[in-house]
Amino acid sequence: MEKAFLVYKNGELVFLGDKTEYKLSQLTKNYQGPVFFYNLDFVRARVQQMQSALKDVRLFYALKANSHPDVLKVFKDNNVGVDVVSGGEIQHAIKNGFRYQQLVYSGVGKTRKELELAIQNDIHQINVESIPELQRIGEMSKTLGKKANVVFRINPDISIQSHPYIATGLKDNKFGIDTGQLLDVIEMAKRFSSSLSVRGISLHLGSQMLEFSSLKDSLAKLKPLFLKLRSEFPECHRFDFGGGLGIHYEKQDLESEGKLLKNYSEVVFSELTTLTYDIPGLEIQSEPGRWLVGHCGVLISQVQYVKKTPHKEFIVLDSGMNHLIRPSLYEAYHSIHSLKKSSESTKKYDVVGPICESADFFGKDRDLPEVKQDDFIVVSDCGAYAATMSSDYNLQDRALETSSARL
Ligand code: LLP
Repeated sequence: MEKAFLVYKNGELVFLGDKTEYKLSQLTKNYQGPVFFYNLDFVRARVQQMQSALKDVRLFYALKANSHPDVLKVFKDNNVGVDVVSGGEIQHAIKNGFRYQQLVYSGVGKTRKELELAIQNDIHQINVESIPELQRIGEMSKTLGKKANVVFRINPDISIQSHPYIATGLKDNKFGIDTGQLLDVIEMAKRFSSSLSVRGISLHLGSQMLEFSSLKDSLAKLKPLFLKLRSEFPECHRFDFGGGLGIHYEKQDLESEGKLLKNYSEVVFSELTTLTYDIPGLEIQSEPGRWLVGHCGVLISQVQYVKKTPHKEFIVLDSGMNHLIRPSLYEAYHSIHSLKKSSESTKKYDVVGPICESADFFGKDRDLPEVKQDDFIVVSDCGAYAATMSSDYNLQDRALETSSARL
């Protein structure tokens, strides 16, 4: 793929995929309101790139990143499973053609109703996050006459360089089982030996990792715990190292992301390969989300007003934090483009939405070609954690989602 994927051709923004290119102005022809457009060709290329870099690792796509049926189909067709975190996500995955045996079920707050759905249908794996959860699964499986496949998600107490709201591997975080509680976990799993099958260990350090020393340290920390578990439960043969591989939001450089993926896989294999020698049939699993879909989506919205004050110039859009909350929630950066580029000269704008909150902005002090009312604005990297985190706050309509370049 080219380094950049959003480029101007004849003054118009074009979205390049692996083999196709989409003229984004097509999506504004019958414009009814903000639109998320997903480039499936792009997703396909990313899946295949990851599958070849993480050879022999079984991938479970984190559906919370983007649950659009057309996106899910790309994963299904490429034999990727799904990481789910709620009964709603389980049902959505099943509706979209995945089997229960392709699902990894994570999350700290699994309810009885959700667990029943998972256990009754012999889900591939439940990532257990606490002792009371393990007890609940053990008791429920017993009552249901089932044997649930469980994996222990361990909290390694290791931080990553990311926004604190999306780091999950520290002891202050609600996620995973504290390493000091492993013996209690083992004891409880043994009590329920007829209704629990202990399949392995899992880890998820957090999201948007661009540096992997913490991952390396965490894998090293988990290896002896995995071996301990295996000595207690011979059926234990899975090592799931979670998701978290980041992307560049501030620059478009797919080449350097290829290198990032390479570094990531080197860290994983350098730590886990020794285990594969010791444990025949070891299954290594991962739960990537953002890296696969982050770049595949754009959000197109229309300028309602250009508001000039003595201090600032605002572009007021018909889309805001209700559709893309990442800038408001994490002060995340998304690049912003005008759909048409009429001149090379630019002006500084704050790009804001219609919502009644001052946190409702996509970008501040952004350089854009002069924009006028009714023009279209394109926000990039909206393939992950954009539509799935959207709301109808202020009773605004949801944005349309499509993978077809013509509405
Ligand atoms: N596995 C588990 C257990 C997770 O909780 C997550 C993401 C993933 C895998 C996938 O992580 P990824 O590869 O996408 O980094 N809303 C935030 C991101 C939250 C991530 C939540 N968990 C954002 O917009 O940046």
